Amino acid sequence: MSLRPETLRGVTITGTGMYVPDQIVTNHDLAKIVETTDEWIVERTGIRARRKAAPEQASSDLALIACQRALEMAKVDPKDVDQIILATTTPDRILPSCGCTLQRKLGATKAAAYDVFAACTGFVYGMGMARGLIGGGMADTVLVVGVETLSRIVDYTDRNTCVLFGDGAGAAVFQACEPGTGIHAVDMHSDGELGEVLEVPAGISRNPANEHTVAAREHFIRMQGKKLFPFAVRSMEDATRKCVERAGWSTDDVQVFIPHQANLRIIEGVRERLGLPEDRVYVNIDRYGNTSSASIPIALDELVRSGKIKPGDHVAFAAFGGGATWGASTMTWTAPVPSYAPVEAAAATGGAA
Ligand SMILES: CC(C)(COP(=O)(O)OP(=O)(O)OC[C@H]1O[C@@H](n2cnc3c(N)ncnc32)[C@H](O)[C@@H]1OP(=O)(O)O)[C@@H](O)C(=O)NCCC(=O)NCCS
Repeated sequence: MSLRPETLRGVTITGTGMYVPDQIVTNHDLAKIVETTDEWIVERTGIRARRKAAPEQASSDLALIACQRALEMAKVDPKDVDQIILATTTPDRILPSCGCTLQRKLGATKAAAYDVFAACTGFVYGMGMARGLIGGGMADTVLVVGVETLSRIVDYTDRNTCVLFGDGAGAAVFQACEPGTGIHAVDMHSDGELGEVLEVPAGISRNPANEHTVAAREHFIRMQGKKLFPFAVRSMEDATRKCVERAGWSTDDVQVFIPHQANLRIIEGVRERLGLPEDRVYVNIDRYGNTSSASIPIALDELVRSGKIKPGDHVAFAAFGGGATWGASTMTWTAPVPSYAPVEAAAATGGAA
């Protein structure tokens, strides 16, 4: 027997939070270590700067602050969280899971905690899981956090990749709401055939770490960017269209579109294909680069705290990433806009919407 989505409880976001490390790495900084220029990076990617975690900061440290901020906005005590879904490609370590480490630091004593490895689509996957868990009555409060310390697996001798990625964390608290509002649809996909397009070749069971893997720099990200580009545009457009249709909307009804921030030209490609005006598409890639699973919840928190999302707004999310994975979601925003001051870069300008 399959449950039709409309028979489930409504599920919405009641709090958001983000954290980015203090250190800003500009394109000019990178031009000192690899053969590149600010002009090339801005023109080909839209990125001007990205954040880098301090040596003592691991992913769980970044996630902790984002989660505390999201829980504070939602007015939820960590002890009342039922599940923690931590989306990442850069956990603190393989064992214990980063989710469990975060659970301890948060004091979320009742929560089941685990990691989801869906690369840049991780937060959208987390949304789908939170919706299923709460909608089906298995949980009342689910904390989803996307967090990355990609600077630890970026090869700073490879100009093809080191200019793209950044560190950060974004979180959201999911709770039940009236059916028919909150999340309308979540679409999740994978295609393992595309696995080698974006990979870290060594380190675990296929190719355990040894002096050869270290010498060959196989613990760093390798990417075939040109192959990913058209896939990214097509997959985000397709998934968004499906979720828009399932919400009973047309693309004209989307008031805020939050795409994964991988490349400004990819975002522009998706925007044009969906026929959305620029002022409905949020962009902050200029300040953070590609923060993978953190990019959507960071963008969401900036929008919420700057009052650019209002209750009743039609919001669409879309992402793609390594695996390959891709997905989208649509929701009608329900949470009241918080009255307290923005935190971190949330106050900064930049981006549309
Ligand atoms: C990576 C990406 C920015 C490259 O942009 P592009 O327009 O496709 O550039 P190309 O691959 O055509 O490379 C053009 C040239 O620039 C060079 N180049 C690559 N990085 C460079 C850099 N940082 N600075 C200067 N030149 C660079 C390449 O070596 C290539 O030189 P060549 O022609 O002599 O070989 C783009 O393909 C992209 O964003 N792809 C998607 C990647 C992605 O989203 N990854 C994350 C998934 S979540």
